[in-house]
Amino acid sequence: MEKPVNKSSLPKKGLPSDTILGQLHQMQRSDVDWKSGRNWSTVYHLDEVHDRLLKEAYGQYFSTNYLNPFAFKSLQKMESEVVAMTAGMLHGGPATVGTMSSGGTESILLAVYTCREWARENHSGIKSPEIVVPQTIHPAFDKAAHLFGLSVRKAPVDENRRAIPKKMEALINKNTIMLAASAPSYPNGILDPIPEIGALAEKHHLPFHVDSCIGGFMLPWVERPGAQLHPWDFQVPGVTSMSADVHKFGYGAKGASVVLYRSMDFLKHQFFISTGFPGGIYASATLAGTRPGGAIAAAWAGMKHLGEEGYLAIAKKLMEATRQLRQGMEEIPEISIVGEPCMNILSYTTRGNHPDIFVVADFLEEKGWMVDRQQNPDSVHLTVMPTNVPVIGWYLEDLKAAVAHAKAHPEAAARGNAALYGLMARIPFRGMVERNVRQILVNMYGTSTGGTDEREVSSPIAEGPKWMGWLNRILACLRKGRG
Ligand SMILES: Cc1ncc(COP(=O)(O)O)c(C=O)c1O
Repeated sequence: MEKPVNKSSLPKKGLPSDTILGQLHQMQRSDVDWKSGRNWSTVYHLDEVHDRLLKEAYGQYFSTNYLNPFAFKSLQKMESEVVAMTAGMLHGGPATVGTMSSGGTESILLAVYTCREWARENHSGIKSPEIVVPQTIHPAFDKAAHLFGLSVRKAPVDENRRAIPKKMEALINKNTIMLAASAPSYPNGILDPIPEIGALAEKHHLPFHVDSCIGGFMLPWVERPGAQLHPWDFQVPGVTSMSADVHKFGYGAKGASVVLYRSMDFLKHQFFISTGFPGGIYASATLAGTRPGGAIAAAWAGMKHLGEEGYLAIAKKLMEATRQLRQGMEEIPEISIVGEPCMNILSYTTRGNHPDIFVVADFLEEKGWMVDRQQNPDSVHLTVMPTNVPVIGWYLEDLKAAVAHAKAHPEAAARGNAALYGLMARIPFRGMVERNVRQILVNMYGTSTGGTDEREVSSPIAEGPKWMGWLNRILACLRKGRG
């Protein structure tokens, strides 16, 4: 009997390049159209001219492997220059050192791992290491703790979503190995009080990581046009490490971030060396084995090309667009901006949740906008990118219409995605939410037959009806519990 054709199996005979490229174009039609400016996160695209330079640089280093810095000395030079330029931007001193990594998450994983190793050497009595962070910290810290066997203690933030140093201090104990905070946090663009947390770090002799993955290449240029920001980088004495992503507002190719340490006393703990491998002595500076040279070359090329003046000019444009967006939102009485954002990130909700913010979100989505819904508080996230600058007026028009629609249709809060996201944010059983999200990933990765052209990738939205089923069951239980 003939074997059933498995659509995802390797083709017996290879396909011509044209066919492959045609298929790629076809498949891309199902992706978000980020060039249209309707998308407010994930793609930090400057313009086509800059992209051409990045692609050239990436292509030139396409086949290189920075696993071996002795074989690729040019990459070693570029990495050290990217690190030095970033350190200069963030007021590092002559002893500041660091490495590049594949992204913000890897930089944070590395910083947490390094602090754990540093603590092992410097505080050998710690058996159950803990890190102390504000609730708004990026989940990369939870991931790091999960992977490296640490616990995360999260301190509440104030009504403006800023870390409260006193609350963080209350969580410090003999197991604490590091503090971390954001400059700024992703969800609401809030700059934590870095000087006060730095003072805490000094008082308790703890390392302190500032996550400036999203702000590291933006805040230095926001400060100069006049916005008064308190120090948030290596100018603060207690700060021992920082992360800043070249693939965000550094306008590098995806796969490029920098992790910096105040001195080699920390960085040396990041390195991994294995001496017994039959293949030879194996040394690696970051988490990956093979390291693609293209991302390093593109980061170097992009930074050298833009220079201070380039970054400053782009930041000015983005901050002006953010000001216009903010002003337009403030003219809509029902809309309230969350906290006091420090850069080109705005998140908004509705006053007293009237009308329902997720009904507003649904309407915007129907109008073709990509909408990032958030929780604690229920809100919508906007990072203003160069692609969004031309569409600010258009977005504000649609937002006004969305608010009017949500006011006229309060019943919509109990339907579709509005109900789904509203409930998800409030469900007290986070374990149950986690299990269901895990199931979505199991479904996504568990399909062994369907080809990519036909496979529907699940998302909470696609899975909406199923989610509604279990959410309603939980609600029923809660109601019963209340008698
Ligand atoms: C503040 C902050 N930290 C960490 C990260 C993680 O970065 P990446 O997605 O590159 O791993 C992000 C991503 O948006 C971020 O905004």
